[in-house]
Amino acid sequence: MKGKIVVITGANSGIGKATALALAKKGATIYMICRNRRRGEMARQDIMAESKNPNIELMLCDLSSMGSIKEFGFTIRDRLDHIDVLINNAGAMFGSRLLSLDGIELTLALNHIGYFLNTHYLLDLVRKGTDKRIINVASVGHKSVKNVNFNDLQNKINYKQLKVYCETKLYNIYFTQLLAEKLKPEGITVNCLHPGVVSTNFGNSGTWYFKIMLPIGRAFMIAPEKGAETSIFLASSPKVKGITGKYFDKKVETKPSRLAQNEKYAKKIWDITMNLTGVQEFGQVVES
Ligand SMILES: NC(=O)c1ccc[n+]([C@@H]2O[C@H](COP(=O)([O-])OP(=O)(O)OC[C@H]3O[C@@H](n4cnc5c(N)ncnc54)[C@H](OP(=O)(O)O)[C@@H]3O)[C@@H](O)[C@H]2O)c1
Repeated sequence: MKGKIVVITGANSGIGKATALALAKKGATIYMICRNRRRGEMARQDIMAESKNPNIELMLCDLSSMGSIKEFGFTIRDRLDHIDVLINNAGAMFGSRLLSLDGIELTLALNHIGYFLNTHYLLDLVRKGTDKRIINVASVGHKSVKNVNFNDLQNKINYKQLKVYCETKLYNIYFTQLLAEKLKPEGITVNCLHPGVVSTNFGNSGTWYFKIMLPIGRAFMIAPEKGAETSIFLASSPKVKGITGKYFDKKVETKPSRLAQNEKYAKKIWDITMNLTGVQEFGQVVES
């Protein structure tokens, strides 16, 4: 990974931070994309000190806001001439139904649209990279989703935090599969993964009940360093060179749920997301 440029969203905490640290130790130049300068800078200092790698950069973006993603996209396009590996990792679950700045249900905005739009703006840079890998952190939680309610994708009725979160993780898999197919001719690979059940800050924005249960649950969770292993594997291993459109768990290619293999639904979610974001042609950024 020496000299490779890796962009990781949500790199100041949990799985993202552990992934950034491990890849920094392998010699990669890391671009940490975080929403908060103080938290991002603290993590950057930790990663530089522990990895002894000075090439750790911090850039700010609120990945739940389309305007912020666009602004960040243009800023990084001015700064970099390529990206070797893009890791869409930032995600969360919310205890009550909140709206993003764009008026979209916040879990959908951050976990799904955030991955989609961030990739749209960065794709030209990935095209110019040598490794050309895109990695989306999904979750085994997608398996709990039994159907997609296209009439209420933003969960206006009967909001349930875990259900809504798991739906967005299903959409991460749909996005991975369709994008992989589209980018195959260009030699860009796109894969997704379940990191395990990992003791991170995940859940801190959940309901009070969830927050009370978290400390008990932590006894059964793996450490972020372990939870980052599949992201690190997909970002750096020669074993996955050329493999695309797949879902991994514990560094092994695994079948996602049957629903996650529904191509019609994947296409429908793609089209709806194109509409919501106003993207005309995915990966073709119009300078304005
Ligand atoms: N932990 C698990 O067991 C588990 C299991 C399956 C999948 N996952 C997935 O793993 C990924 C990483 O989660 P984690 O467990 O490492 O949780 P985490 O410790 O809470 O890390 C989440 C990261 O996302 C960032 N983030 C949240 N909202 C953001 C926004 N609006 N804009 C930019 N960044 C934002 C957070 O920044 P702040 O620090 O500023 O909040 C943090 O850096 C998520 O996609 C999650 O769905 C986790």
